[in-house]
Amino acid sequence: MASLAGITFRPAAEADLLDCHRVWRDALDAYQARMGMQPMPEDNPGLRRLHRHAHATDPARFMVADRSLPGGGTRVVAFGSAMERGPLWFLSMLFVEPREQARGLGRALLEQLLPADRETRALATCTDSAQPISNGLYTTFGIVPRMPMFNLVGRPAAEFRWPALPAGFRARLVTEPGAWSESDELAAFDEALLGFAHPQDHRFVQAEPRHLFAFRDASGELVAYGYAGEIGRLGPIAVREPALLAPVLGHLLTTVVPRGASAVWLPAAADGALAAAIRAGLRIEGFPVLAGWSRPFADFSRYVPTSPGLV
Ligand SMILES: CC(C)(COP(=O)(O)OP(=O)(O)OC[C@H]1O[C@@H](n2cnc3c(N)ncnc32)[C@H](O)[C@@H]1OP(=O)(O)O)[C@@H](O)C(=O)NCCC(=O)NCCS
Repeated sequence: MASLAGITFRPAAEADLLDCHRVWRDALDAYQARMGMQPMPEDNPGLRRLHRHAHATDPARFMVADRSLPGGGTRVVAFGSAMERGPLWFLSMLFVEPREQARGLGRALLEQLLPADRETRALATCTDSAQPISNGLYTTFGIVPRMPMFNLVGRPAAEFRWPALPAGFRARLVTEPGAWSESDELAAFDEALLGFAHPQDHRFVQAEPRHLFAFRDASGELVAYGYAGEIGRLGPIAVREPALLAPVLGHLLTTVVPRGASAVWLPAAADGALAAAIRAGLRIEGFPVLAGWSRPFADFSRYVPTSPGLV
């Protein structure tokens, strides 16, 4: 490994989050420019909210790398954030300033973030499919890219016939989502699907804001939930049976009509919902991301994550 002299690692303070945003944008722009893509906007409020959430829930797992400067002082040149949810360790972000890349800094920072008991945990992340460095780096830790996730954008055609919910199934807007986030019912549903409950992430998504819908069968049992926001983003969506995903997606897309386009990251394992969304008129935007894991932790034929940065 090349020398990391002059670099120190420490947990991020909230005041570092703007620097993390800068590193994120510069790192992405540097490789996306090589592919002829437009620079990222100066500010990304959604990303800043995600950083604040990751920092609030997992402060010890949000780290920065400082480079000491010749004239004194330091500069944040890299950051990474991971979240622990039950048995899952999820890498949300890892970014290194372009001029500091390819010298072992990303690998060293990742080693700081990985859990001590990594052999017994499910380690996971999402990568840009167009980025060989991150895909290669994570693979060396067993986090192998295994499944594309597609960013589906647009609005469904009014005449498109979504697969119907089974007879007797009902969708209801949850009017007190905060209280329901803490409920045993939601915790049990998430535990069965993901292996952990995560009320803190539900509260984050609700504040984005996104509306929460609960789907119940004729006996009143919870069979699915899903979020849709008026800004257009959907997710997470969770269903008891894979066949419910397309009807639930259709319900969310047609019930919450945003001012602009809708957008949802659909896992390739959710094949029925993916096909329905494309037939309805939504379009794949950009490169897919690749979800990678060291061992399976969730059934993605029944779960649509919040975003590539948050399960
Ligand atoms: C991805 C990133 C965080 C890695 O940090 P870095 O400091 O550049 O990486 P390192 O030098 O520590 O490690 C690079 C490792 O990537 C792997 N790698 C690099 N190029 C590779 C390739 N073409 N194929 C396979 N693996 C490759 C190797 O394992 C290498 O480690 P090694 O040199 O010990 O063999 C950094 O390059 C970055 O911020 N890139 C731009 C933004 C980005 O894409 N972030 C991730 C989004 S998913």
